[in-house]
Amino acid sequence: MANADFVKGLEGVIAAESSICFIDGHAGRLTYRGIDIQDLAEHSTFEETCYFLLFGNLPKQAELDAFKAELAAGSVVPDEVMALVRSLPKETTPMDALRTAVSALGSYDPDALDNSDAANVRKAVRLIGQVTTLTTSFDRIRKGLDPIAPRQDYTVAENFLYTLHGEAPHPSSARVFDVCLILHADHELNASTFAGRVIASTFTNESGVSAVHAAATGAIGALAGPLHGGANQRVMEMLLKIGDLDAVDAFIDDLFANKKKVMGFGHRVYRTIDPRATVLRSFAKKLGEDTGNSKWFEMCEKIEKLVSAKTSKPIYPNVDFFSGAVFYSMNVPIDIFTPIFACSRISGWMAHTVEQLRNNRLIRPLADYQGLEKMEYMPMAER
Ligand code: ACO
Repeated sequence: MANADFVKGLEGVIAAESSICFIDGHAGRLTYRGIDIQDLAEHSTFEETCYFLLFGNLPKQAELDAFKAELAAGSVVPDEVMALVRSLPKETTPMDALRTAVSALGSYDPDALDNSDAANVRKAVRLIGQVTTLTTSFDRIRKGLDPIAPRQDYTVAENFLYTLHGEAPHPSSARVFDVCLILHADHELNASTFAGRVIASTFTNESGVSAVHAAATGAIGALAGPLHGGANQRVMEMLLKIGDLDAVDAFIDDLFANKKKVMGFGHRVYRTIDPRATVLRSFAKKLGEDTGNSKWFEMCEKIEKLVSAKTSKPIYPNVDFFSGAVFYSMNVPIDIFTPIFACSRISGWMAHTVEQLRNNRLIRPLADYQGLEKMEYMPMAER
């Protein structure tokens, strides 16, 4: 009983106007506000990219300095939210912990009840810093360690590594991590960003409820799924399960024979290799050489060749394929891989939330109703 055309999974449906991110899935091109992702990866920093996504222009030095200071100051998490994180069972998945804590931050933000545009931007900047603090703090708390306060003179990337491991990061590791954050920062109407925009669209500027925190909470929930951001963790789990280069063929044969998906491959939009995967491939290779363990990288390359040989479909590595080996080489726990995605994508979610609220219309599509046309209500005694 369709009122309009139905497209399963909204494939190919345009659901928003946006000036933030563009993807040409056939050419393998990704831009943030017109700048190619390769250029940003080479020349920018995560802080500059966040500013660019949120405000729409590349900052002048003074603007960037002020933004970095605001971001660093905002990265502190209120004691009450840290107490909540401490109260969670140690077995809580880091993505569940992050979602819960980000939701709670909405109650303690100094602009909590202010949904003006200026307040939304202030809240967005604070959240960008706080997601990293929460991610590393939860990892330490569940290990029985005390969280480490982020340093005000550090970048988000430096603070991630410092507050996770408890020691000053090597500059080259911090730069690799910084570029990883740039690569994950935005990706048009991916599932989590769309979820965030749908939530934001139900608010008005007079709502008296933090639209920004509601959107971020919903987006984190959507990102956790293995078909979306959760795939990076699954890729590393797959590599560990395979265990050795010699075991790759049999493992991939088995997946295809059982019509199972290879994690880290395929994409709704790309019909060629994801340009972010190309940059991450080079990092996985370099880190393998630097750490004297190229096994994960070699396994990744072998899997890529096998997948390509086994299918005629346009299934190429996506952003989650090589990032697993990169984060693993940096001694990041496997279940923190998807939260890293959130530490970065929070910038894109916030840019989209602010954009949605500036030109808002409730996002409310239709369903193609498949149920009975009419059914009589049957009293309990007659069922
Ligand atoms: N391995 C094997 N086959 C695949 C894969 C894969 N990773 N991805 C797609 N295919 C096949 C499907 O089986 C399907 O074949 P069919 O037409 O014979 O049924 C065809 O390619 C199309 O796949 P769909 O799942 O219908 O494509 P869709 O656009 O809905 O899904 C998705 C995209 C969810 C990313 C899918 O490719 C997938 O599940 N990949 C594995 C999980 C993953 O890596 N997710 C991260 C995506 S990137 C991100 O969100 C950050």
